[in-house]
Amino acid sequence: MNKKTVKDLNVEGKKVLVRVDFNVPLDKEGKGTITDDTRIKAAFPTIDYLLEKGASVILMSHLGRPGGEAKKEFSLKPVADYLKEKYQDKFHFFPSDTVVDENVKESVKNLKAGDLCLLENTRYVKGETKNDPEFSKELASLADLYVNDAFGTSHRAHSSNVGVASILPSAVGFLIEKEISFMGKALENPERPFVAILGGAKVSDKIGVIENLISKVDTILIGGGMAYTFLKALGKEIGKSLLEEDKMDLSLKLLEKAKANNVKLLLPVDAVIADEIKEEIDTQIVDIDRIPVDKEALDIGPKTAELFAKEIKNAKTVVWNGPMGVFEVKGFDKGTNAIAEALSEVDGVTIVGGGDSALAVELAGLKDKISHVSTGGGASLEFLEGKDLPGISSIEDK
Ligand code: 3PG
Repeated sequence: MNKKTVKDLNVEGKKVLVRVDFNVPLDKEGKGTITDDTRIKAAFPTIDYLLEKGASVILMSHLGRPGGEAKKEFSLKPVADYLKEKYQDKFHFFPSDTVVDENVKESVKNLKAGDLCLLENTRYVKGETKNDPEFSKELASLADLYVNDAFGTSHRAHSSNVGVASILPSAVGFLIEKEISFMGKALENPERPFVAILGGAKVSDKIGVIENLISKVDTILIGGGMAYTFLKALGKEIGKSLLEEDKMDLSLKLLEKAKANNVKLLLPVDAVIADEIKEEIDTQIVDIDRIPVDKEALDIGPKTAELFAKEIKNAKTVVWNGPMGVFEVKGFDKGTNAIAEALSEVDGVTIVGGGDSALAVELAGLKDKISHVSTGGGASLEFLEGKDLPGISSIEDK
């Protein structure tokens, strides 16, 4: 990567504005409990490095989509409480409905070397998501230097990640460096065989990834709801399974393209079917050309899991994005778990694109056995699509 990193900055005695992605899931009851702290922990290497080097760190993040209004339920207070526990007296929360105001400016000015603070949700301000230069200026006025470590937000061009980079000297943090190094290497210079596993509900969500990967991988394994559009296009009866009728032609074209590129593209050979998505409901395993008209396929079957696992275990590089079935419902999670298991046994580099597949390896207790689990959902998908990520391209080159 040719971008400046924190190590290229002289941060001692400086105020450093750090964009992190603390858009973490909170409990549904509104108690403000963080249900997955992965993204917070992933920012610690950069934060700790800067503090150790004698910087004062000003953290900023969005949380959810408050739509440019200071809505209490979107406050970063739960994250502030979490950081207080870890950093104790060194940590300060400077909440403000406008994110930056005179009080915040004064408090930031008084931060000592080795102190850190967190600003309120940047999306409390309308200008944030419009990359409004005025809001970018307000944020930038707090600091001498800017570090972007919010990989999960790098597909957005907002004031707090892109706008400030046009004002302050900038660099990426260790998390972005790590994300790019794993995923970039896989795309540019993978050890082979290189296998991509793609799942999730819709073909339309994964077209860009398939198109980008088709010229790079040796094998593509397709599962999840999206597989049934391919199968229908090939003339199979798919019953009530997910179908994007307007994507059937495209599915056939992608199959042809895979063939033309000598890419082995495998689809499910069996499926777990049921009347509907419900825990404890009766399920059946059927071969793929035996799906009854009134049933829905909700997971890959054991033969498919075995077929896919064989390809995965032989690979030297594996990228996985999207579950194999409705894994969050018991009874339809076996296929996704089998893929997670196979990944954990690979003697090579394994990368899980964030979102649902990251949650699946976490639930399977296999996260530690994966080389890299991305903290980005949309961001890692766009990276795998080969798209430019403005949060990263806006950072100064080395
Ligand atoms: C994410 O969770 O994907 C990022 O934090 C970006 O959030 P957004 O989709 O609301 O922009």
